[in-house]
Amino acid sequence: MTKNKKIIKFDSRYPSIEDLREKAKSKIPKFAFEYLDGGCNEDVNLHKNTAEIREVELLPYYLNQYKESKLDTKLFGHTYDAPFGIAPVGLQGMMWPNSPEILAKAAFEHNIPFTLSTVSTSNIERISEITEGRAWFQLYHPKEADLRDNIIKRAAAAECPVLVILSDVPTFGFRPRDIRNGLALPPNMSLRNILQILGKPAWAFETLKHGQPNFETLKPYMPKNLDLRQLGNFMDQTFSGRLNEERIKPIRDLWKGKLVLKGVATEQDVEKAISWGLDGVIVSNHGGRQLDAGESTIKPLTRIAKAYGNQITVMMDSGMRSGPDIGRTLASGAKFAFMGRSFMYGVSALGSKGGNHTISLLKAQLKQVMEQICCEDVRDFPKHLVQK
Ligand SMILES: Cc1cc2nc3c(=O)[nH]c(=O)nc-3n(C[C@H](O)[C@H](O)[C@H](O)COP(=O)(O)O)c2cc1C
Repeated sequence: MTKNKKIIKFDSRYPSIEDLREKAKSKIPKFAFEYLDGGCNEDVNLHKNTAEIREVELLPYYLNQYKESKLDTKLFGHTYDAPFGIAPVGLQGMMWPNSPEILAKAAFEHNIPFTLSTVSTSNIERISEITEGRAWFQLYHPKEADLRDNIIKRAAAAECPVLVILSDVPTFGFRPRDIRNGLALPPNMSLRNILQILGKPAWAFETLKHGQPNFETLKPYMPKNLDLRQLGNFMDQTFSGRLNEERIKPIRDLWKGKLVLKGVATEQDVEKAISWGLDGVIVSNHGGRQLDAGESTIKPLTRIAKAYGNQITVMMDSGMRSGPDIGRTLASGAKFAFMGRSFMYGVSALGSKGGNHTISLLKAQLKQVMEQICCEDVRDFPKHLVQK
């Protein structure tokens, strides 16, 4: 438990993630909102993720003995204040200036994990300072062994307890809006994008105040001011999202902390992760941003947790937008839940207050569900699952 533990208190004008999403839409330029909000291709998997989580039903045992509900969850040797955390999101500072720092601070104060993406806009060292060495780090797989080892050593020096390696970006997702918007970092100054920025003065002011966003962790290794095509080339030349035993083994050998594979969607990949000595998997489809024709995450999660939950730590992300959604996911067998967009909607909507608000809101909603169904411990959620 943290000494900074916050009271669960949120702004009553925004009592749902959808309220935050709407507010975010009105506050940030269209190209930034569409990058955050969209899926890939026709957005089928994006919507299916949430819809199929919501088909999961919970049984309330009203007449059971009941004392109180606790959100505390032990994961990889640390007791967090809630069974959910912040997933890695790239280009965060483009959506709201300084957002990785805002979210990392709120996560630290609430004692939940914050995961920094390799392509976020703050660096490992700064985030480690804010979280006193508690942040997780997500690694895109560098092709060059020297670069790989250099980044891993920085994460170790920053005391990250968990390294997350990503398996579900073997190729760039096909995202029509980003292609149309000519997405780039810093934002491409087309007339259309300038007009969008002029319409969002609070965002423009904050961006001026904090300076233009960059890939801070990667800064020492990359050329400046790349447009979408050049950025694609740099990422292609520098990183390979295609993982295999040969690529994972040296990471396992070098990294002394916990090692988690993110983007798992099949039993076959979980078996490999177990045999290669990984500590956990995050069942995820990248929030529906990579494979529109794939399954929603709750389906493989249910199968994987049942078959392998006693051999490896099984977690999930993609599609959760509320406390009940987190409850449904835990009831389906996940040990821990992660969300990406929900927190970014929060911080894009409410700026420096957005991290605290979103975490408090999700904690309050999850606690209410537990009190309602007579569930005292988050580990008991599976007892409340309606079997289908
Ligand atoms: C705008 C955006 C950028 C993302 N960038 C990354 C990234 O850099 N690395 C990564 O591992 N996952 C990335 N993800 C995926 C998230 O970590 C997570 O899997 C996803 O957001 C979960 O779905 P949700 O947004 O429905 O909660 C990104 C997601 C979004 C929405």
